[in-house]
Amino acid sequence: MQKRLLVLAAGILQVPVIKRAHEMGIYVIAADGDPNACGLKYADKAIVANITSEEEMLRVARAENIDGVIHPCSEVSMNVMGRINDELHLSGISKDQAIRATNKHLMREAFEAYGAPSPMSRCFTDVEVAWGAFCMDFTGACILKPSRNSGSRGIAKISSNIQMDEFARLFEISKNESRDKQVMLEQFIEGPEFSIEIIVWNGQVNVLTVTDKKTTEAPHFVELGHNQPSCSPAETVEKIKAAAVAGVKALGVNNCACHAEVKVQDGDPYIMEIGARMGGDFISTVLTPLSTGVDMIAAAVNCALGIEPCLQPITKPQGVCIRYFCPKPGVLKSISNTEVLDDSRVYEWEIYHNVGDIIPEVTSSLCRSGHVIVTEETPKKAIAYAERLISEVIFETE
Ligand SMILES: Nc1ncnc2c1ncn2[C@@H]1O[C@H](COP(=O)(O)OP(=O)(O)O)[C@@H](O)[C@H]1O
Ligand SMILES: [Mg+2]
Repeated sequence: MQKRLLVLAAGILQVPVIKRAHEMGIYVIAADGDPNACGLKYADKAIVANITSEEEMLRVARAENIDGVIHPCSEVSMNVMGRINDELHLSGISKDQAIRATNKHLMREAFEAYGAPSPMSRCFTDVEVAWGAFCMDFTGACILKPSRNSGSRGIAKISSNIQMDEFARLFEISKNESRDKQVMLEQFIEGPEFSIEIIVWNGQVNVLTVTDKKTTEAPHFVELGHNQPSCSPAETVEKIKAAAVAGVKALGVNNCACHAEVKVQDGDPYIMEIGARMGGDFISTVLTPLSTGVDMIAAAVNCALGIEPCLQPITKPQGVCIRYFCPKPGVLKSISNTEVLDDSRVYEWEIYHNVGDIIPEVTSSLCRSGHVIVTEETPKKAIAYAERLISEVIFETE
């Protein structure tokens, strides 16, 4: 019998999953609220529906008689996916687990309870209470961030000598970006950042790879690129893996992909957050398969269908790097020299803006203007080449 998979969301990040699942011989039902979502055309059946509505998507799941549901590279419908899994007794995470894996406060509580390394953190709705705690209980730099959001929206680093007015202003920004109107105040971890791609199957937490991340500086920490495997020393990589594994166990999720984010300060890892899903920014869907040879998409799809995933390499591992185009803000006048992207080491590239568009200041990952993915013998070579290409394509703005 052909398996039937519901994919929640059909945007650019979900396209590789929809295509791969279809290639695997699965009947793919893709749902998105936007009738023009670019992934819908690759599905066996496209459904335009509100993917954040549990009731609506449950109806779809029942009507389509699905064998599994997946919500790759996004968080907006994690609870919906959990609810469908609960009601239809499918493989993958429950609604309880989905809530824990998308609410940064509950996540921190789970890490603390389990002893997974996590920065000191508290959650507030009231700015005065938060200010009081900041003055009394925290030392050094801190970070304010929405309890429920993603893509670095509403995040601000604050120094220990910040004035109350400025604290209140940043708190309100963060609160407005938070789906539950709660704001996290956290000890700021200073150091390089990593992500960890994981497949949890049958209670086993399998780390596929560790990614080095390049982000903008404070205040927004927008991701400018990623490379795999990590160029860090093996000992550091092992510590990062152990922190991520502890974090996944703390969340208690099973039969799913996970994307963990970790920072290392003075040699010690601290978990930033863990999503019980494939990571965005092409990390899980494109970079991990290229750098490990493991078909992570097929693995995640199989987990969702309750089929044991294959975690062995099926292609030759390579060094891989993605870098994002972030031109100077202003009106885009011209884009030139894209010929340099025509090279066998370029796996793919895309520019999201057209001449005449306004190039925004890069305050979140939605503000980036394009990307290029490079494969090379080693990650260092891939980084060097990707950065060269980023500097050689010319965006003229005014
Ligand atoms: N406690 C912290 N210390 C240092 N940096 C942090 C901290 N929390 C968040 N950040 C920075 O902000 C980025 C985004 O925060 P994160 O919790 O991952 O939210 P999002 O869901 O928006 O990705 C992180 O990747 C990291 O660079
Ligand atoms: Mg994050």
